Amino acid sequence: MQDPDAPAIRLLILGGTTEAAAIARAVVATHGHRVTVISSLAGRTERPGPLPGEVRIGGFGGVEGLVAYLQTQAIDVVVDATHPFAAQMSRHARIAAALANRPRLQLWRPGWPRDPRDRWVEVADAAGAAAVLPQVGRRVLLTLGRSELDCFAALTTTFFLIRSIDPPRTPPPLAQHHVVLGRGPFALAEELALLRHYRIDALVAKHSGGSATKAKLDAARTLDLPVVMIRRPPPEPGHLALTVDEALAWLSQVVDGDPSSCAL
Ligand SMILES: NC(=O)c1ccc[n+]([C@@H]2O[C@H](COP(=O)([O-])OP(=O)(O)OC[C@H]3O[C@@H](n4cnc5c(N)ncnc54)[C@H](OP(=O)(O)O)[C@@H]3O)[C@@H](O)[C@H]2O)c1
Repeated sequence: MQDPDAPAIRLLILGGTTEAAAIARAVVATHGHRVTVISSLAGRTERPGPLPGEVRIGGFGGVEGLVAYLQTQAIDVVVDATHPFAAQMSRHARIAAALANRPRLQLWRPGWPRDPRDRWVEVADAAGAAAVLPQVGRRVLLTLGRSELDCFAALTTTFFLIRSIDPPRTPPPLAQHHVVLGRGPFALAEELALLRHYRIDALVAKHSGGSATKAKLDAARTLDLPVVMIRRPPPEPGHLALTVDEALAWLSQVVDGDPSSCAL
């Protein structure tokens, strides 16, 4: 029997992803009377989508800052549902949660399965992508973060189609480019139309996984285009959930007070 006078559990969701928003919505809907949900965003997009519960924006100030935040804000449990490439945030979350003795779960979105028809050239990072690109294509759809565009600056004869959620604050450092604005999920028909309209002959993408941005790979396969694919970093050691449902099941155990479910 749950104690109706028990203080609310304070859940910190490290977010910025579709899955983080889905967890926040589900927890507020099912445990809203017992759980205070605080979503944390890095602040990379100017107009984040709507989120229930509380939202905080911006870095914590490294591991030390996050430990202090967990303590001063009396956070009880942490769900790291950041982007699979936000490796630094995930590492900080693991270390800080351990130092503050808080249960932590990482939602680890699986990568995309590779189809035999896919023409992927796998590389370690954006610099690796820039190194192979001249052998792969001349008109390239580039779906990376702003901070990675510098790696492609030397490719002055390559045309880059850049897709981003917000208009770039400063002009991209690329000799030939065009920016299209868009926020996923994207449909196959619109991806095919985009690739055809700009006569794209190669893509550069992160192996992010997830359904929201998968259609570009289906479109590349349909058009027999190569994809320079940046490999994903590994997850942090500790509790992992591969889906939103798995994360919610773990959280339910934590909220319902089963200590074995949240051992660090
Ligand atoms: N973060 C996102 O929402 C997001 C979304 C889509 C794609 N990505 C991709 O992931 C890659 C790395 O992105 P990143 O720079 O955001 O990650 P990162 O390199 O892991 O994080 C850098 C710093 O940003 C802050 N930060 C990151 N996520 C945060 C969150 N949810 N709440 C509060 N602070 C957060 C932290 O600052 P402090 O050390 O000061 O705490 C962290 O140390 C990029 O390639 C980007 O394209 C990220």
